[in-house]
Amino acid sequence: MIPTPKTWIRERKNEFYYKKAKAENYRSRSTYKLVQANNKYAFIKLHDIVVDLGAAPGGWIQAARKMTGKHGFVLGVDLKPIEPFTQEYIRTIVADLTEPNITDQILSFLPRRPDVVISDAAPNVTGVWEVDHACQIDLANKALEISKNILKPNGNFFVKVFQGDLLEEFVTNIKYNFESVRIVKPQASRAKSSEEYILALSLKTENIP
Ligand SMILES: C[S@@+](CC[C@H](N)C(=O)[O-])C[C@H]1O[C@@H](n2cnc3c(N)ncnc32)[C@H](O)[C@@H]1O
Repeated sequence: MIPTPKTWIRERKNEFYYKKAKAENYRSRSTYKLVQANNKYAFIKLHDIVVDLGAAPGGWIQAARKMTGKHGFVLGVDLKPIEPFTQEYIRTIVADLTEPNITDQILSFLPRRPDVVISDAAPNVTGVWEVDHACQIDLANKALEISKNILKPNGNFFVKVFQGDLLEEFVTNIKYNFESVRIVKPQASRAKSSEEYILALSLKTENIP
């Protein structure tokens, strides 16, 4: 049975990671997906510069800021404005990942090339599985292009995808560009959701423009 909007909101509010995020002052339950993945694979480290694509409302920014510490820096990019943070070493910009000059825009806000690009960017879901999958892979491809253009040599990339026909080709493309690639399904990502993340470690230097 399809839940009514009211049921959906009630279920969401009773959900474990939703409550945990509220209690721990994180802006999204998604925060724990990044935290769990990084606890396991340590792709974001102290002092890193991190670019977060599709960052609103800012849960991943909060988590990444904790991982990078006060000598690191986190830049969040989203179509929507992100409410300001009290901590330093965070910057957010309103921008579209699909804009042609997006890499120059991002680099202009950074002290140097980033160590890590993370992307939780997601289109508005239509409910039509093929359409949502294709739109998600489009955005993931955009995030990959941006990563290849801005990451430092051996930098890391972590990106959201939805399972489906187009995923294999996307993973092949990522494998061509990074030394090590794995699919990650953090515990905080709902088991019944087709969402998963690709973790790509160490951008191959020969592919840097
Ligand atoms: C699931 S939310 C990200 C949640 C975030 N990781 C957090 O923990 O708060 C996905 C975001 O992707 C953004 N987005 C979608 N398409 C985009 C685009 N073309 N350019 C920039 N942001 C985009 C949406 O505006 C939305 O805020």
